[in-house]
Amino acid sequence: MQIRVLGSGELDETRDIRSRAFGRLSDSAWAQSARMARPALEAGRQFAGFEGGRIVATGRLNDLTQWWQGRAVSVAGVGGVAVAPEARGRGLGRALLTDLLERCVRFGHPLAMLYPATTPLYRSLGWEHAGGLHHVELPAEALRTLAAERVPVRRVGPQDAEEVAAVVARVHEAAGDCGPIGWRHGVWRVLLGTEGHYTYLAEDGFVSYRWDGNGEGLEVTRLVAGSEGTLRALWALVGSGSSTAASVRACVAPSDPVLWAIRERECETVDRRQWMLRVVDAPAAIGARGFPAGVSARAALLIDDPDVPANAGHWHLTVEDGTGRLERSGGDPDPVRLGARGLAALYAGVPVPTLRRAGLLHGGDAGTLGAAFAATPYALDYF
Ligand SMILES: CC(C)(COP(=O)(O)OP(=O)(O)OC[C@H]1O[C@@H](n2cnc3c(N)ncnc32)[C@H](O)[C@@H]1OP(=O)(O)O)[C@@H](O)C(=O)NCCC(=O)NCCS
Repeated sequence: MQIRVLGSGELDETRDIRSRAFGRLSDSAWAQSARMARPALEAGRQFAGFEGGRIVATGRLNDLTQWWQGRAVSVAGVGGVAVAPEARGRGLGRALLTDLLERCVRFGHPLAMLYPATTPLYRSLGWEHAGGLHHVELPAEALRTLAAERVPVRRVGPQDAEEVAAVVARVHEAAGDCGPIGWRHGVWRVLLGTEGHYTYLAEDGFVSYRWDGNGEGLEVTRLVAGSEGTLRALWALVGSGSSTAASVRACVAPSDPVLWAIRERECETVDRRQWMLRVVDAPAAIGARGFPAGVSARAALLIDDPDVPANAGHWHLTVEDGTGRLERSGGDPDPVRLGARGLAALYAGVPVPTLRRAGLLHGGDAGTLGAAFAATPYALDYF
């Protein structure tokens, strides 16, 4: 299989393989998917594997940022991974992913994230489960009655992409969030221009919502707010539809403040979809991430990473004053030993006792590592 970048006129040639892998796409669904893919396509980030001149595999590397303790880290969003049904089971999926991982290194992304449809393929190349995309059902009436004060909000569209991106970034930064991603402005323009998505901006908040597929309930795709007043106002704006929509399905953080603002809360069903993380460049990933203020940690690490040899070997980790450093060391007699999967999970805040018992981290003194990396990462976007 020969893998190459697809040109801007070649996207339609991936429609057949996409339909066979993810379900038949109507013309309008394909048009929307193509609009979302265009920025990556134009940046030379849509790839296809060919055999005998025919596409047998596809994959894309979205150019994203991801907040880690409030600091934006460059991350490759791996999406649209598919192998033609008749070509599966011959190692093409693994070959494609290996190629994409090498491209992540060359693009200079310290991290790569993805939503897995199957886990073993990604684990075999160093990805590990890191966070979730959470949805809950909220009664629209409970949201309608949240507003305490009038907060100025305005409708926004594609022309407001930069301002929306900046407001969303400021909220995640100030909250010290872990996991949400930031889109480039080109994708924001598509999101803000999508028919049927209602988008409003406040000085320190943003909401995007739509009717669900059956037209019976509302669905909040993103609501971020930097203050209590804005939080209440934006949720109440959605809840004002309670006369025609009884419930609101909402994509939220596990500790989203709305869950502490609503009056009644008892039994909750959380629908959680997993995403996985890969540390592509260990020193850059540690250097770019934020760490909790007031926590310091020092540890000797021995990393095993045959797929990205630059990560492998002895390192010394230092975390202090909200920042981290990973520096080469001559070797410690009893380092904390971990592979690429353990490193990804540690980075994402999976507790050290969990990592030890899952066989992802061994030896050494990991005493303060857990507190330094502690996080409950979430996402607000599926791709
Ligand atoms: C998942 C997919 C890309 C794998 O492609 P493939 O060419 O068959 O994969 P490979 O032959 O390289 O196999 C790689 C590994 O994945 C495993 N694997 C492949 N398909 C799998 C499946 N459906 N469920 C579980 N494991 C699977 C293989 O067993 C192999 O593991 P091994 O080396 O331990 O045996 C392909 O089945 C596909 O396109 N599926 C539909 C779309 C999809 O799920 N895409 C992934 C989106 S995240």
